[in-house]
Amino acid sequence: MKYDVTIIGSGPGGYVAAIRCAQLGMKTAIIERYPTLGGTCLNVGCIPSKALLDSSEHYHAAHEKFESHGIKLKDLEVDMPQMIKRKDDVVQQTCDGVAFLMKKNKIDVFHGHGSFVDAHKISVAKDDGSTESIETDKVIIATGSKPITPEAFNYDKKRVITSTEALTLKKVPKRMVIIGGGVIGLELGSVYARLGTEIEVVEFLDRIIPGMDVDCSKELMRALKKLGMKFHLKHKVTTVKKKRSGVSVEVQKRDSEDTFSIDADYCLVAIGRRPYTDNLGLENVGIEKDDRGRIQVNNHLETNVPGIYAIGDVVKGIMLAHKAEEEGVLVAELLAGQQPHIDYNLIPNVVYTWPEVASVGQTEDQLKEAGVPYKSGKFPFKALGRARASMDTEGMIKVLAHKDTDEILGVHMVGPRTADMIAEAVALMEFRASAEDVARMSHAHPTYTEAFREACLAATENRALHM
Ligand code: FAD
Ligand code: NAI
Repeated sequence: MKYDVTIIGSGPGGYVAAIRCAQLGMKTAIIERYPTLGGTCLNVGCIPSKALLDSSEHYHAAHEKFESHGIKLKDLEVDMPQMIKRKDDVVQQTCDGVAFLMKKNKIDVFHGHGSFVDAHKISVAKDDGSTESIETDKVIIATGSKPITPEAFNYDKKRVITSTEALTLKKVPKRMVIIGGGVIGLELGSVYARLGTEIEVVEFLDRIIPGMDVDCSKELMRALKKLGMKFHLKHKVTTVKKKRSGVSVEVQKRDSEDTFSIDADYCLVAIGRRPYTDNLGLENVGIEKDDRGRIQVNNHLETNVPGIYAIGDVVKGIMLAHKAEEEGVLVAELLAGQQPHIDYNLIPNVVYTWPEVASVGQTEDQLKEAGVPYKSGKFPFKALGRARASMDTEGMIKVLAHKDTDEILGVHMVGPRTADMIAEAVALMEFRASAEDVARMSHAHPTYTEAFREACLAATENRALHM
């Protein structure tokens, strides 16, 4: 069988590209080295982490908030095996859903490790030792990423773990050290902090979630400290030593020689992910990578070899599932002769802690650096009736608008349900709305979304109504 297009990797980039290619009439194949489809996101990323975030938040709310709501509970306890089982069920249903979509769209699925023989031939090495060969006109590489695990940290998957293993622990640990105050460290740190684990986060930079707006970092850190999490900012881990049961983590102050060590049951390494191109045979076709190991692509996501494209975590840009999906759709539509476009500035970024953090567009630091004149409006959730009703008063919304034109340039939210609320900001920014436009749109009362309108009122002549 010769295919119009073959996709290597079935994560959100790959499987969405496959569906769109099939919708556009291309004979499509997809190769996946693992038994289930869905990639990092569905198997060991977005979906299982959100399942555990939800379960742990229920427990935490029952523990900390129910009494104030007038609900009495006795003998509350965590059933970790059940929590993990529910997570596994969610993952299975979601992966099965992707398998169904492949069938529905008549996409041929090949299980095995794909590698280039030449630009039009991919070999698939199966688990049983056999190989199969696929002939194809075009190829889309969507092989994703893997956690970065420096040798000095002695990653052993047992006590020194990454997010993958942290999603399957059988018991709630007493103590956990997390290396990296980025999104994985804080999401999974929240899961275990809520379940009762003492969490210490070691972050090299001077703030957590350093890629996001500085006010988001401050608000989130305040909330996570209340949850009991401890932070060592401007510190680095030099080594992780395995002990009889647990680990000893050696920490050094970033700007001095001061060191100390922390003993814990687990050390979670969450310092970023690297593009995954192992044994892909890129050298057989001469595909170039950049200095960070990412496959180099042009604005059409085409590699230096015509007809071979790459998308998602394996190329430059933010490592997010919805970014990978957009890129999958873009390449499929390009192959069909259409003229699609992605506005990378409008890809939202969300951290699923509680309060949630969500942002889109430019941060205040980026606007300063680019010399763009801007004004800012902020509104705290504690001034919102809806937030007081649910006792979710932590956080704020900040709107950054152009000083002269009033166009919204960035929206940064920390608070309840901001992961969903950011969609309004994305839509409005896509249509180049001004802060005044939002200030004049009715928002249902009482809802959390009123905070967005109030922040826009604050950004336009400082006229927030409830502050
Ligand atoms: P992947 O999802 O990594 O898929 C690549 C696939 O290719 C894998 O299945 C792999 O087995 C396969 N593959 C690799 N090489 C070969 C080969 N040679 N042959 C055959 N198959 C191969 N993003 C969000 O947007 N929201 C979130 O909430 C979120 N949460 C996350 C939580 C965690 C714990 C982690 C680790 C990540 C999270 N992410 C989240 C990031 C998200 O998972 C990735 O950005 C996304 O999965 C990237 O999609 P992809 O298609 O590029 O690659
Ligand atoms: P990250 O890049 O978000 O954070 C890594 C953090 O580790 C940074 O703050 C960095 O300064 C710090 N760091 C790096 N080296 C260090 C060292 N040696 N010592 C101490 N700190 C160090 O990476 P993370 O959290 O591993 O996540 C990987 C990617 O997965 C993210 O970039 C994100 O794109 C994706 N992801 C997205 C989620 C979401 O959208 N909600 C959830 C989880 C992951």
